[in-house]
Amino acid sequence: MHKLSLSQFLLEASQKKEPVTTELSPLLMDIAQACKEIALSISRGALQGTMGSLNAQNVQGETQKQLDVICNDIFIDNTSRCGLVAGMVSEELADIYLPSQPSTATNKYLLLFDPLDGSSNVNVNISVGTIFSVLRCPADISQPQSHDFLQAGKHQLCAGYALYGTSTIFVLSTGHGVNGFTLDTETGEFYLTHPDMQIPADTQEFAINMSNYRFWSAPMQEYINECLQGETGSRHKDFSMRWVASMVAEIHRILYRGGIFMYPADSKATHGKLRLLYEANPMSFIVKQAGGASSTSFQDILDIMPTSIHQRIGVVMGSKNEVIKAVSYQNLSH
Ligand code: AHG
Ligand code: MN
Ligand code: MN
Repeated sequence: MHKLSLSQFLLEASQKKEPVTTELSPLLMDIAQACKEIALSISRGALQGTMGSLNAQNVQGETQKQLDVICNDIFIDNTSRCGLVAGMVSEELADIYLPSQPSTATNKYLLLFDPLDGSSNVNVNISVGTIFSVLRCPADISQPQSHDFLQAGKHQLCAGYALYGTSTIFVLSTGHGVNGFTLDTETGEFYLTHPDMQIPADTQEFAINMSNYRFWSAPMQEYINECLQGETGSRHKDFSMRWVASMVAEIHRILYRGGIFMYPADSKATHGKLRLLYEANPMSFIVKQAGGASSTSFQDILDIMPTSIHQRIGVVMGSKNEVIKAVSYQNLSH
């Protein structure tokens, strides 16, 4: 069986005259390399004694794990040298990061990432991931500032994630569909194993942290109530529920077999929990490219004009018809 490696895939995309993929190829290979190193570092965490928490909080008041910081460093180290990145935003850094060697490329890019998503799962050997997004650096700017990163998600050039699960999978979209690559640990290469991923439009599976039920808005409670009523209720079908507590794992499952993933803003987290620029936006870009939909419950996530680099947002995404259905409860309340 002929297997197409990630670098061959990127070369073929360049030959098909996909300018964004062509230009971003060196950066994408560096990101893939970072993900390989993160996979190794996570898998060796207990052996290396790096599974603990640090006596430090990130800018969002969350206690950092040692691996949050290690994965952040690996990601930055690998992506600072290709000369394409003018600046970065990371969940683990309060401020933007500028590579020490300023980019001299004509077209420069901004890289936004969550180096270790689902880090509460890392100690208990449950899947975690890395999420990234690429924006264009405004022309004539060599040293970007925070406000240069505040672009609506629809302007993303590329988004992707790595899922560190039973195997390491790298999923990528440069605006021409979504493709998934599995790491062959024997050769150290990613190979195309999930071409042109498509999210089924309908589903009977939802993912939400049910323990937040009492904090949700009445329409969100009503939507879930009706899912729970199953065949005997107004939806006339039974639902199943999943909650991994790693967004990457949930979205990967949804890309594979459909589903709806929700982390709505509620009375406890009034702005939502997930971060717009390096969680909600890249995942929305991928979900949309795979035929799905994403919303805050009030507007398309990809249309939001960000106001700060670590902004949080409510999230409802996945199978298109189910997202439309969930959001419709919100509209009924007005
Ligand atoms: P992170 O580890 O990067 O902070 O993200 C964790 C996120 C997301 O991956 C997951 O869906 C959600 O937090 C889980 O939240 P709860 O622990 O509240 O269920
Ligand atoms: Mn995360
Ligand atoms: Mn994280």
